[in-house]
Amino acid sequence: MAEEHTLQVLTPYKMGDFQLSHRVVLAPLTRQRSYGNVPQPHAMLYYSQRTTKGGLLISEATGVSDTAQGYTDTPGIWTKEQVEAWKPIVDAVHAKGGIFFCQIWHVGRASNTSFQPNGQAPISCTDKSIDGADYSPPRRLSTEEIPQIINDFRLAARNAMEAGFDGVEIHGANGYLIDQFLKDQANDRTDKYGGSLENRCRFALEITEAVSEEIGADKVGVRLSIFSNYLDSGDSNPEALGLYMAKSLNKYDILYCHMIEPRMKTLGEMTECPQSLVPIRKAFNNTFIVAGGYSREDGTKAVAENRADLVAYGRQFLANPDLPKRLELNAPLNKYNRNTFYIPDPVVGYTDYPFLDETNTA
Ligand SMILES: Cc1cc2nc3c(=O)[nH]c(=O)nc-3n(C[C@H](O)[C@H](O)[C@H](O)COP(=O)(O)O)c2cc1C
Repeated sequence: MAEEHTLQVLTPYKMGDFQLSHRVVLAPLTRQRSYGNVPQPHAMLYYSQRTTKGGLLISEATGVSDTAQGYTDTPGIWTKEQVEAWKPIVDAVHAKGGIFFCQIWHVGRASNTSFQPNGQAPISCTDKSIDGADYSPPRRLSTEEIPQIINDFRLAARNAMEAGFDGVEIHGANGYLIDQFLKDQANDRTDKYGGSLENRCRFALEITEAVSEEIGADKVGVRLSIFSNYLDSGDSNPEALGLYMAKSLNKYDILYCHMIEPRMKTLGEMTECPQSLVPIRKAFNNTFIVAGGYSREDGTKAVAENRADLVAYGRQFLANPDLPKRLELNAPLNKYNRNTFYIPDPVVGYTDYPFLDETNTA
Protein backbone atom coordinates (compact mmCIF):
# COMPACT_ATOMS: atom_id res chain seq x y z
CA MET A 1 0.00 0.00 0.00
CA ALA A 2 2.84 2.41 0.79
CA GLU A 3 3.94 2.27 -2.82
CA GLU A 4 0.43 3.11 -4.01
CA HIS A 5 0.36 6.25 -1.90
CA THR A 6 3.60 7.55 -3.30
CA LEU A 7 2.76 6.94 -6.94
CA GLN A 8 4.25 10.17 -8.22
CA VAL A 9 2.15 10.41 -11.33
CA LEU A 10 -0.95 10.63 -9.13
CA THR A 11 0.24 13.51 -6.97
CA PRO A 12 -1.28 16.99 -7.34
CA TYR A 13 0.44 19.64 -9.41
CA LYS A 14 -0.15 23.33 -9.95
CA MET A 15 0.15 24.22 -13.63
CA GLY A 16 -0.03 28.03 -13.76
CA ASP A 17 -3.52 28.91 -12.54
CA PHE A 18 -4.75 25.33 -12.90
CA GLN A 19 -4.80 23.10 -9.85
CA LEU A 20 -4.38 19.57 -11.17
CA SER A 21 -5.25 16.69 -8.86
CA HIS A 22 -2.88 14.30 -10.66
CA ARG A 23 -0.38 14.22 -13.53
CA VAL A 24 -1.97 11.73 -15.92
CA VAL A 25 -2.91 13.73 -19.02
CA LEU A 26 -5.13 12.60 -21.91
CA ALA A 27 -2.85 12.94 -24.95
CA PRO A 28 -4.36 14.46 -28.09
CA LEU A 29 -5.93 11.62 -30.11
CA THR A 30 -7.45 11.97 -33.57
CA ARG A 31 -10.52 9.74 -33.77
CA GLN A 32 -12.12 10.77 -37.09
CA ARG A 33 -15.68 10.75 -35.80
CA SER A 34 -16.45 14.44 -36.39
CA TYR A 35 -18.60 14.08 -39.49
CA GLY A 36 -18.07 16.85 -42.02
CA ASN A 37 -15.45 18.39 -39.67
CA VAL A 38 -18.15 19.17 -37.09
CA PRO A 39 -17.74 17.74 -33.55
CA GLN A 40 -20.55 15.34 -32.73
CA PRO A 41 -22.62 14.67 -29.59
CA HIS A 42 -20.96 11.25 -29.11
CA ALA A 43 -17.75 13.11 -28.23
CA MET A 44 -19.49 14.34 -25.05
CA LEU A 45 -19.54 10.79 -23.72
CA TYR A 46 -16.06 9.93 -25.02
CA TYR A 47 -14.36 12.90 -23.36
CA SER A 48 -16.44 12.83 -20.18
CA GLN A 49 -15.60 9.12 -19.73
CA ARG A 50 -11.93 10.18 -19.65
CA THR A 51 -12.47 13.10 -17.29
CA THR A 52 -11.45 13.16 -13.64
CA LYS A 53 -11.85 16.05 -11.25
CA GLY A 54 -8.70 18.13 -11.65
CA GLY A 55 -7.43 16.05 -14.59
CA LEU A 56 -6.04 17.64 -17.78
CA LEU A 57 -7.42 16.57 -21.17
CA ILE A 58 -6.06 17.66 -24.53
CA SER A 59 -8.49 17.41 -27.42
CA GLU A 60 -7.88 15.63 -30.69
CA ALA A 61 -6.18 17.77 -33.33
CA THR A 62 -8.65 20.40 -34.51
CA GLY A 63 -8.33 22.27 -37.81
CA VAL A 64 -7.79 26.02 -37.83
CA SER A 65 -9.13 26.69 -41.33
CA ASP A 66 -10.57 25.11 -44.47
CA THR A 67 -7.05 24.37 -45.75
CA ALA A 68 -6.00 22.68 -42.49
CA GLN A 69 -7.59 19.29 -43.09
CA GLY A 70 -5.96 16.10 -44.35
CA TYR A 71 -8.09 13.26 -42.95
CA THR A 72 -11.77 12.39 -43.10
CA ASP A 73 -14.03 13.61 -40.30
CA THR A 74 -11.49 15.41 -38.13
CA PRO A 75 -13.00 18.35 -36.23
CA GLY A 76 -12.47 22.02 -36.98
CA ILE A 77 -12.87 25.24 -35.05
CA TRP A 78 -13.03 27.87 -37.76
CA THR A 79 -16.82 28.09 -38.27
CA LYS A 80 -19.60 29.18 -35.95
CA GLU A 81 -21.23 25.77 -36.34
CA GLN A 82 -18.05 24.02 -35.16
CA VAL A 83 -17.68 26.36 -32.19
CA GLU A 84 -21.29 25.73 -31.16
CA ALA A 85 -20.81 21.97 -31.57
CA TRP A 86 -17.78 22.01 -29.26
CA LYS A 87 -19.67 23.80 -26.46
CA PRO A 88 -21.66 20.84 -25.05
CA ILE A 89 -18.53 18.64 -25.27
CA VAL A 90 -16.48 21.13 -23.27
CA ASP A 91 -19.39 21.53 -20.85
CA ALA A 92 -19.50 17.77 -20.29
CA VAL A 93 -15.81 17.77 -19.32
CA HIS A 94 -16.26 20.79 -17.05
CA ALA A 95 -19.30 19.21 -15.40
CA LYS A 96 -16.96 16.50 -14.07
CA GLY A 97 -14.28 18.98 -13.00
CA GLY A 98 -11.84 18.41 -15.87
CA ILE A 99 -9.52 20.94 -17.47
CA PHE A 100 -9.79 20.86 -21.25
CA PHE A 101 -7.35 22.25 -23.82
CA CYS A 102 -8.04 22.34 -27.54
CA GLN A 103 -5.22 21.18 -29.79
CA ILE A 104 -5.17 23.48 -32.82
CA TRP A 105 -3.77 22.12 -36.04
CA HIS A 106 -2.89 22.62 -39.66
CA VAL A 107 -1.74 19.55 -41.61
CA GLY A 108 0.10 21.51 -44.32
CA ARG A 109 1.30 19.13 -47.03
CA ALA A 110 -0.03 16.03 -45.20
CA SER A 111 -3.17 16.33 -47.27
CA ASN A 112 -4.45 15.97 -50.78
CA THR A 113 -6.58 17.96 -53.15
CA SER A 114 -9.78 16.13 -52.13
CA PHE A 115 -9.61 17.75 -48.67
CA GLN A 116 -8.86 21.22 -49.99
CA PRO A 117 -11.27 24.02 -50.93
CA ASN A 118 -11.91 23.97 -54.70
CA GLY A 119 -9.61 20.97 -55.02
CA GLN A 120 -6.55 23.19 -54.75
CA ALA A 121 -3.10 21.98 -53.75
CA PRO A 122 -2.35 21.66 -50.02
CA ILE A 123 -0.12 24.44 -48.67
CA SER A 124 3.27 24.07 -47.04
CA CYS A 125 6.64 25.69 -46.50
CA THR A 126 7.82 23.74 -49.52
CA ASP A 127 6.68 22.35 -52.84
CA LYS A 128 8.32 18.98 -52.09
CA SER A 129 5.79 16.16 -51.65
CA ILE A 130 5.63 13.61 -48.87
CA ASP A 131 6.46 10.19 -50.21
CA GLY A 132 3.32 8.12 -50.64
CA ALA A 133 0.13 7.93 -52.65
CA ASP A 134 -2.04 9.70 -50.05
CA TYR A 135 -0.48 13.10 -50.55
CA SER A 136 -0.74 15.66 -53.34
CA PRO A 137 2.18 17.88 -54.30
CA PRO A 138 1.94 20.96 -52.06
CA ARG A 139 2.07 24.61 -53.03
CA ARG A 140 4.80 26.61 -51.35
CA LEU A 141 3.38 29.56 -49.38
CA SER A 142 4.76 32.94 -50.38
CA THR A 143 6.33 35.04 -47.62
CA GLU A 144 3.40 37.46 -47.86
CA GLU A 145 0.82 34.71 -47.28
CA ILE A 146 2.33 33.45 -44.03
CA PRO A 147 0.77 36.10 -41.74
CA GLN A 148 -2.69 34.93 -42.86
CA ILE A 149 -1.95 31.41 -41.70
CA ILE A 150 -0.65 32.72 -38.39
CA ASN A 151 -3.86 34.69 -38.10
CA ASP A 152 -5.89 31.52 -38.66
CA PHE A 153 -4.24 30.05 -35.55
CA ARG A 154 -5.05 33.25 -33.64
CA LEU A 155 -8.70 33.08 -34.65
CA ALA A 156 -8.90 29.37 -33.88
CA ALA A 157 -7.57 30.09 -30.38
CA ARG A 158 -10.16 32.81 -29.92
CA ASN A 159 -12.85 30.39 -31.08
CA ALA A 160 -11.60 27.72 -28.69
CA MET A 161 -12.01 30.13 -25.79
CA GLU A 162 -15.47 31.05 -27.10
CA ALA A 163 -16.33 27.34 -27.11
CA GLY A 164 -15.35 27.22 -23.43
CA PHE A 165 -11.97 25.48 -23.57
CA ASP A 166 -9.55 26.37 -20.78
CA GLY A 167 -6.72 26.96 -23.22
CA VAL A 168 -5.13 25.74 -26.43
CA GLU A 169 -2.25 23.52 -27.40
CA ILE A 170 -0.52 24.54 -30.62
CA HIS A 171 0.21 21.35 -32.58
CA GLY A 172 3.81 21.75 -33.69
CA ALA A 173 4.52 18.00 -33.85
CA ASN A 174 4.32 14.88 -36.01
CA GLY A 175 5.16 16.27 -39.44
CA TYR A 176 2.27 18.71 -39.81
CA LEU A 177 2.53 22.31 -41.00
CA ILE A 178 4.46 23.82 -38.10
CA ASP A 179 6.81 20.82 -37.95
CA GLN A 180 7.33 21.11 -41.72
CA PHE A 181 8.65 24.63 -41.15
CA LEU A 182 10.79 23.56 -38.16
CA LYS A 183 12.66 20.66 -39.76
CA ASP A 184 15.45 20.97 -42.28
CA GLN A 185 14.39 17.80 -44.11
CA ALA A 186 11.14 19.52 -45.15
CA ASN A 187 11.91 23.25 -45.08
CA ASP A 188 13.85 24.33 -48.15
CA ARG A 189 12.87 28.01 -48.09
CA THR A 190 15.29 30.82 -48.73
CA ASP A 191 13.25 33.66 -47.17
CA LYS A 192 13.11 34.64 -43.48
CA TYR A 193 11.12 31.43 -42.72
CA GLY A 194 13.80 29.03 -43.94
CA GLY A 195 17.50 28.26 -43.88
CA SER A 196 18.93 28.99 -40.42
CA LEU A 197 17.55 27.44 -37.24
CA GLU A 198 16.21 30.85 -36.19
CA ASN A 199 14.42 31.24 -39.50
CA ARG A 200 12.89 27.76 -39.45
CA CYS A 201 11.52 28.40 -35.94
CA ARG A 202 10.08 31.80 -36.85
CA PHE A 203 6.70 30.45 -38.03
CA ALA A 204 6.15 28.42 -34.83
CA LEU A 205 7.18 31.34 -32.65
CA GLU A 206 5.05 33.89 -34.49
CA ILE A 207 2.06 31.59 -34.03
CA THR A 208 2.88 31.25 -30.34
CA GLU A 209 3.13 35.01 -30.03
CA ALA A 210 -0.15 35.65 -31.88
CA VAL A 211 -2.06 33.02 -29.91
CA SER A 212 -0.57 34.25 -26.61
CA GLU A 213 -1.58 37.83 -27.39
CA GLU A 214 -5.06 36.68 -28.24
CA ILE A 215 -5.92 34.48 -25.24
CA GLY A 216 -3.06 35.00 -22.75
CA ALA A 217 0.19 33.03 -22.57
CA ASP A 218 -1.03 31.44 -19.33
CA LYS A 219 -3.50 29.46 -21.45
CA VAL A 220 -1.11 28.34 -24.19
CA GLY A 221 0.83 25.11 -24.63
CA VAL A 222 3.02 24.00 -27.54
CA ARG A 223 3.53 20.38 -28.63
CA LEU A 224 6.72 19.38 -30.43
CA SER A 225 8.28 16.15 -31.68
CA ILE A 226 11.76 17.35 -32.48
CA PHE A 227 13.28 13.85 -32.70
CA SER A 228 10.64 12.30 -34.92
CA ASN A 229 10.70 12.01 -38.67
CA TYR A 230 7.02 11.36 -39.41
CA LEU A 231 5.83 12.47 -42.83
CA ASP A 232 9.34 13.13 -44.08
CA SER A 233 9.88 15.81 -41.42
CA GLY A 234 13.14 14.92 -39.74
CA ASP A 235 15.87 17.25 -38.58
CA SER A 236 19.64 16.92 -38.82
CA ASN A 237 20.17 18.43 -35.34
CA PRO A 238 17.14 17.81 -33.12
CA GLU A 239 18.94 18.67 -29.86
CA ALA A 240 19.79 22.16 -31.11
CA LEU A 241 16.24 22.59 -32.42
CA GLY A 242 14.73 21.54 -29.09
CA LEU A 243 16.97 23.79 -27.04
CA TYR A 244 16.40 26.77 -29.28
CA MET A 245 12.63 26.26 -29.14
CA ALA A 246 12.57 25.80 -25.36
CA LYS A 247 14.57 28.97 -24.79
CA SER A 248 12.53 30.94 -27.31
CA LEU A 249 9.22 29.76 -25.82
CA ASN A 250 10.44 31.04 -22.44
CA LYS A 251 10.28 34.59 -23.85
CA TYR A 252 6.53 34.26 -24.25
CA ASP A 253 6.15 32.66 -20.80
CA ILE A 254 3.65 30.12 -22.14
CA LEU A 255 1.98 27.70 -19.76
CA TYR A 256 3.50 24.46 -20.95
CA CYS A 257 5.71 22.68 -23.43
CA HIS A 258 4.62 19.17 -24.46
CA MET A 259 7.35 17.02 -25.99
CA ILE A 260 7.22 13.61 -27.60
CA GLU A 261 9.99 11.27 -26.51
CA PRO A 262 12.87 10.52 -28.90
CA ARG A 263 12.08 6.80 -28.51
CA MET A 264 8.91 7.45 -30.59
CA LYS A 265 10.88 8.22 -33.69
CA THR A 266 8.60 6.11 -35.81
CA LEU A 267 4.84 6.07 -35.42
CA GLY A 268 3.62 3.65 -32.81
CA GLU A 269 6.83 1.71 -32.20
CA MET A 270 9.25 2.38 -29.38
CA THR A 271 12.96 2.15 -30.09
CA GLU A 272 15.84 2.39 -27.67
CA CYS A 273 17.86 5.52 -28.26
CA PRO A 274 20.63 7.46 -26.58
CA GLN A 275 18.85 10.81 -26.86
CA SER A 276 16.98 12.44 -24.01
CA LEU A 277 14.58 15.32 -23.40
CA VAL A 278 16.31 16.23 -20.13
CA PRO A 279 18.42 19.16 -21.46
CA ILE A 280 15.28 20.62 -23.05
CA ARG A 281 13.27 20.07 -19.89
CA LYS A 282 15.96 21.95 -17.97
CA ALA A 283 16.01 24.79 -20.51
CA PHE A 284 12.24 25.34 -20.38
CA ASN A 285 10.97 27.42 -17.43
CA ASN A 286 7.34 26.33 -17.09
CA THR A 287 5.37 23.08 -17.05
CA PHE A 288 6.93 20.25 -19.06
CA ILE A 289 4.72 17.44 -20.36
CA VAL A 290 6.20 14.29 -21.87
CA ALA A 291 4.50 11.69 -24.06
CA GLY A 292 5.35 8.55 -25.93
CA GLY A 293 5.11 4.97 -24.81
CA TYR A 294 4.59 5.71 -21.12
CA SER A 295 3.54 2.98 -18.71
CA ARG A 296 2.56 3.22 -15.06
CA GLU A 297 6.13 2.57 -13.97
CA ASP A 298 8.10 4.81 -16.25
CA GLY A 299 5.56 7.64 -16.00
CA THR A 300 6.01 7.56 -12.27
CA LYS A 301 9.77 7.38 -12.65
CA ALA A 302 9.82 10.37 -15.02
CA VAL A 303 7.98 12.49 -12.45
CA ALA A 304 9.98 11.15 -9.49
CA GLU A 305 13.26 11.94 -11.28
CA ASN A 306 11.97 15.38 -12.25
CA ARG A 307 12.25 14.67 -15.96
CA ALA A 308 8.64 15.79 -16.39
CA ASP A 309 5.87 17.54 -14.50
CA LEU A 310 3.07 15.75 -16.32
CA VAL A 311 2.83 12.60 -18.42
CA ALA A 312 0.45 12.32 -21.38
CA TYR A 313 -0.92 8.87 -22.16
CA GLY A 314 -2.29 8.19 -25.63
CA ARG A 315 -3.21 4.63 -26.54
CA GLN A 316 -3.59 3.48 -22.91
CA PHE A 317 -6.03 6.31 -22.19
CA LEU A 318 -7.87 5.63 -25.44
CA ALA A 319 -8.51 2.05 -24.30
CA ASN A 320 -8.92 2.76 -20.57
CA PRO A 321 -11.39 5.54 -19.86
CA ASP A 322 -10.58 5.26 -16.15
CA LEU A 323 -6.80 5.14 -16.63
CA PRO A 324 -5.88 7.26 -13.55
CA LYS A 325 -7.93 4.94 -11.35
CA ARG A 326 -6.31 1.84 -12.88
CA LEU A 327 -2.85 3.30 -12.36
CA GLU A 328 -3.73 4.06 -8.77
CA LEU A 329 -4.92 0.51 -8.13
CA ASN A 330 -2.29 -1.08 -10.35
CA ALA A 331 -5.22 -2.76 -12.08
CA PRO A 332 -4.92 -4.58 -15.39
CA LEU A 333 -5.38 -2.48 -18.52
CA ASN A 334 -7.72 -3.03 -21.46
CA LYS A 335 -5.76 -3.62 -24.65
CA TYR A 336 -6.24 -1.05 -27.37
CA ASN A 337 -7.56 -2.14 -30.73
CA ARG A 338 -5.70 -0.37 -33.50
CA ASN A 339 -8.33 -1.38 -36.08
CA THR A 340 -10.93 0.88 -34.47
CA PHE A 341 -8.74 3.94 -33.83
CA TYR A 342 -9.97 5.82 -36.87
CA ILE A 343 -13.29 4.23 -37.88
CA PRO A 344 -16.35 6.52 -38.01
CA ASP A 345 -18.42 4.40 -35.62
CA PRO A 346 -19.82 6.61 -32.81
CA VAL A 347 -19.55 3.81 -30.25
CA VAL A 348 -17.33 0.91 -31.30
CA GLY A 349 -13.72 1.39 -30.30
CA TYR A 350 -14.70 4.81 -28.98
CA THR A 351 -17.01 4.79 -25.98
CA ASP A 352 -17.32 1.02 -25.47
CA TYR A 353 -14.01 0.30 -23.73
CA PRO A 354 -15.04 -1.07 -20.31
CA PHE A 355 -14.45 0.62 -16.98
CA LEU A 356 -13.00 -1.34 -14.11
CA ASP A 357 -15.50 -3.37 -12.25
CA GLU A 358 -14.57 -1.87 -8.94
CA THR A 359 -16.31 -4.54 -6.95
CA ASN A 360 -13.72 -7.01 -8.24
CA THR A 361 -10.73 -4.92 -7.29
CA ALA A 362 -11.75 -3.47 -3.94
C1 LIG B 1 -5.19 7.03 -32.58
C2 LIG B 1 -4.12 8.08 -32.39
C3 LIG B 1 -4.40 9.39 -32.73
C4 LIG B 1 -3.46 10.40 -32.50
N1 LIG B 1 -3.79 11.70 -32.78
C5 LIG B 1 -2.95 12.71 -32.42
C6 LIG B 1 -3.35 14.06 -32.55
O1 LIG B 1 -4.47 14.39 -32.96
N2 LIG B 1 -2.46 15.02 -32.19
C7 LIG B 1 -1.21 14.71 -31.71
O2 LIG B 1 -0.44 15.61 -31.38
N3 LIG B 1 -0.83 13.42 -31.56
C8 LIG B 1 -1.67 12.42 -31.87
N4 LIG B 1 -1.30 11.12 -31.65
C9 LIG B 1 -0.05 10.84 -30.90
C10 LIG B 1 -0.36 10.67 -29.42
O3 LIG B 1 -0.79 11.89 -28.83
C11 LIG B 1 0.88 10.18 -28.64
O4 LIG B 1 1.92 11.11 -28.75
C12 LIG B 1 1.35 8.82 -29.15
O5 LIG B 1 0.26 7.91 -29.25
C13 LIG B 1 2.40 8.20 -28.23
O6 LIG B 1 1.88 8.06 -26.92
P1 LIG B 1 1.35 6.64 -26.36
O7 LIG B 1 2.50 5.68 -26.50
O8 LIG B 1 0.99 6.94 -24.92
O9 LIG B 1 0.19 6.23 -27.20
C14 LIG B 1 -2.20 10.08 -31.94
C15 LIG B 1 -1.91 8.74 -31.62
C16 LIG B 1 -2.85 7.76 -31.84
C17 LIG B 1 -2.52 6.34 -31.44
